[in-house]
This record gives sequence, C-alpha cells and structure tokens, in this order.
Amino acid sequence: MASLTIRKLDEGVKTYLRLRSARNRRSVEEEVRIILGELIQGHEEPLTPMAAPPDHAPAPVSQRTGAVPEASVTLIIGGGIAAYKSLDLIRRLKERRIEVRCVLTQAAQQFVTPLAVSALSHERVYTDLFDPQSEFDAGHIRLARDCDLIVVAPATADLMAKMANGHADDLASAILLATNRKILLAPAMNPLMWNNAATRRNVTQLQRDGVVLIGPNSGEMAEAGEAGVGRMSEAIEIATAAERLLRPPVPKPLAGKRVLITAGPTHEPIDPVRYIANRSSGKQGFAIAAAAQAAGAEVILVSGPVDLDDPAGVTVKHVESARQMLEQVQAALPADIAIFAAAVADWRVANEGEQKLKKTSAGMPPLQLVENPDILATISKLTEKRPPLVIGFAAETEHLIDNAKSKLARKGCDWIVANDVSPATGVMGGDRNTVHLISRKNGEKDGEIAVDSWPVMSKEQVAIELVAHVAKSVTGKSLEPAS
Ligand code: C5P
Repeated sequence: MASLTIRKLDEGVKTYLRLRSARNRRSVEEEVRIILGELIQGHEEPLTPMAAPPDHAPAPVSQRTGAVPEASVTLIIGGGIAAYKSLDLIRRLKERRIEVRCVLTQAAQQFVTPLAVSALSHERVYTDLFDPQSEFDAGHIRLARDCDLIVVAPATADLMAKMANGHADDLASAILLATNRKILLAPAMNPLMWNNAATRRNVTQLQRDGVVLIGPNSGEMAEAGEAGVGRMSEAIEIATAAERLLRPPVPKPLAGKRVLITAGPTHEPIDPVRYIANRSSGKQGFAIAAAAQAAGAEVILVSGPVDLDDPAGVTVKHVESARQMLEQVQAALPADIAIFAAAVADWRVANEGEQKLKKTSAGMPPLQLVENPDILATISKLTEKRPPLVIGFAAETEHLIDNAKSKLARKGCDWIVANDVSPATGVMGGDRNTVHLISRKNGEKDGEIAVDSWPVMSKEQVAIELVAHVAKSVTGKSLEPAS
C-alpha cells in the first residue's frame, strides 16, 4: 500500500495538521490516521458489513458524577492470581479521571467477582460474548472502540497467544481483534511460561503489531518457592503507563527561555476621567502568552486595560499608558524573545488635565497631542539587552504586506506578524485572525524578506503556530509530541 509523506504535503495542510495534532496532543501521523478514519466512517455506504460506530461519538457520561470523563479505558481482566491487583488498577485509573469499563474472562471470574469489579468501576461488567443484553447492538464492537485505550491486566499466556493468532472465541479476544485502539498489556504468568519459546514468539508478534507491554516484573511467584520474571506490574505502574499513552507528555521546547509579551490597548489620559483608547481586546497577545507558557517558557505579559483573565502560570504586569508599558517592558529585560502584540496608542495628550475638563462657552478645549515612545523600536534598537528575537505586529487596514515589510525595516525587529484589521474582517475584538509572518530569509539582517501567509485561524491557533515558529527558530525544537 502507498505511504504518505507528511513533509511533502502543502504548507497550509501541514499547518492545519500541526495545530490540530498539538491541540489534541497527538503526533501528526496519529492525527492523519484519525482524520482519515473519520472520513471513511462518514462515507455513505458502510465499508464493512458491520459499520463501525463513529469515532467522534460523545464520550460516555459517568453514571456516578454525571461529568464527561477526560478519557476512557476498556480494561480486560484475564484469569490469573494477579487479577486481584486489577481491582486496585480500576481505582488508580479513576483517580486519574479515566473512565473504566471492565470485561472479565471466564477464568478471571475464578479470581475476582463481577460484583466487586462493578462496585469499583461504577459501571456494569461484561463477561459474555453472547450476552443478549449487550450484544443486541454488537456490544463487543462498542467495547472495542468506544474507548481511548484497551488495557489487559493481567494478560495471561493464553490470552496473549489468542491475540497473537487472531482468535475471537470469547468476549475478551473478540474485543481485542475488533479494536482500532491502542492496546496495553500487563503480562502475568509463571516464569517458565514467560520464557517458553511459544510465549517469546507471541510477545515478538504482538510488539510487531503495535501492542505496548508493561512488565512483567521479576520477584516471588504465587506458587510457593518460585521466583523469576512473570509478576504483573503494580497497579500504579500500569496506570502511569496507560496515562502516558492517553495523554502523552506535551513537549516543552521553550523550557528555560524567558518570553516578554505586550498585549491589549493603552489608555492615554485626557483628564482624570477621560482617555484616548483603541478597540484592541488583548485576546491575541494573551493567547500567545498562554501558548508560550504551555511550551515551557517563563512568560512576562505586560498588558494594557483588557477584560480578560490573567493566563495561568504567567507573570502579568497591568498598565494603563504607553509610557507605563515601556517602563514595565524595560524592567522585564533581559529576555530571550520579545513579542509586541499590544496596540499601543501612537499619541498621548501633552497637557493632561489635572481636573475634569469643563464644557465652556469658549468651545472645545484644545487637545495637543505628542508622540508616545515606540516600545517595539526602542527595544529592537537596544545595543545591550536586546532580546535575540524581537517580533512586532502590524495591524493594517490597507497595503498590508507592503506596510508590514517597511515596518520590519523601520522598527528594526526580526519578524512582523501582519494582520488585516479592516472593520469587515472582524479581527479587532473578534476570535479569528488571518496573519502573514514576515521575516528575513535565513534570519540575516539584510536578507531577502519572506512572507508566509497562514490560513484563517482562531487567535489561539495563531498563537500556537507563532510559538511553534519561535521554538523552531530559537531552539530548533518542535512543538509536536514525538511520534
Ligand atoms: O507603528 P505601529 O503601531 O503600526 O506598529 C505596530 C507594532 O509596534 C506592534 O508590534 C506594536 O506593539 C508596536 N508598537 C509599540 N509602541 C508603540 C507603537 C507600536 O511597541 N508606541
């Protein structure tokens, strides 16, 4: 079958995939598999005699809390003495906000009862492939696919042999054959069984098939006087392994980097009650701060007056005017990266009234304006303490790219994020943004200017994409989880 090289896809498609996979904490390849799966399942004609339920079916609602769980596991309990540890495993998974539905093999019921498993999982327990109650709508298919992960603990030698050879003569093996989810096995058996050539072959085959194994550990066996490799991993180890598969650790490519961000409008006082302002909401700058923080950076956000909550884990300095913003920016240096997303007022009132200005018969009081300091240009032109990467924004209503290119040269920054803020775009105060990243090719000071136009995205997605570019440029690291 043909293989797909993601590197060779269109830039726009790659950007979309990068964002979607980063948001869902999956590798790009995994995301492509899911998108293709969804497409095929949305096909009008079922591709198999038994159409699979859609993958995007809502997650089951917990019977106990009524809350939608964050992840769900189908736990298959095999027949071995280690089955008693699976009762603890149910608890450990639930502690991690993982919903658990349990399947017991016939042999497992010799070691733990469906009642105990049901009481701990707060769900009904499944034991029989031909159970009319659950099989009226192909219940084994649902158990195989309405979950994010299948865990088999204990995975007995017999169950592993069945899996390796594609058997499906009971509920557990039918689920394992019918699933398209990742499978985690926690083997448990006598050391001689584990070392037997047949088991070795089965383990190799299962690993080739993409099954993940945890353990077994070495130690005392239940059989008196026997010891060796074959003890099932502890419940906490299995739960941790399951969590890693369900929620792979998010990469922190900006760890150890200090990022300074400005956001929002500035308010330039006319008198104690009036000010000059603009329509900036601060959403884009706040989203960049949150994305940089999520990428592991230490973030200092200098914000003008906005109606937004401070992003978690970010140091926020609240200011009103451009001069206060400059002061806080200078105080926050040194930084590795500075991103100036604030819509700073270009002018302020020269003769700010100490008292509220009164209406008089003499007509309007003259408002003399003076230029505000340009924070972006000031920081870009520093000789000492200039952050190695300085990024400005260019919000324009006409000649977007030309204006942004000349701003790059005039202000002396390294990159410009240009966006069209004409009223028709709804960008000012809205949730979406269409941006162009303007930079110098190969990062050279006088290099040719490159324009990278991104598709329309939410401001959060623009932030993630910008942070991904920053991370790549500064550290060479990717924002995507390793596949
Ligand atoms: O000149 P203009 O306001 O269009 O430039 C926009 C860019 O310059 C933005 O990055 C903005 O944060 C920054 N800027 C600044 N201080 C000013 C004016 C703009 O930092 N006084």
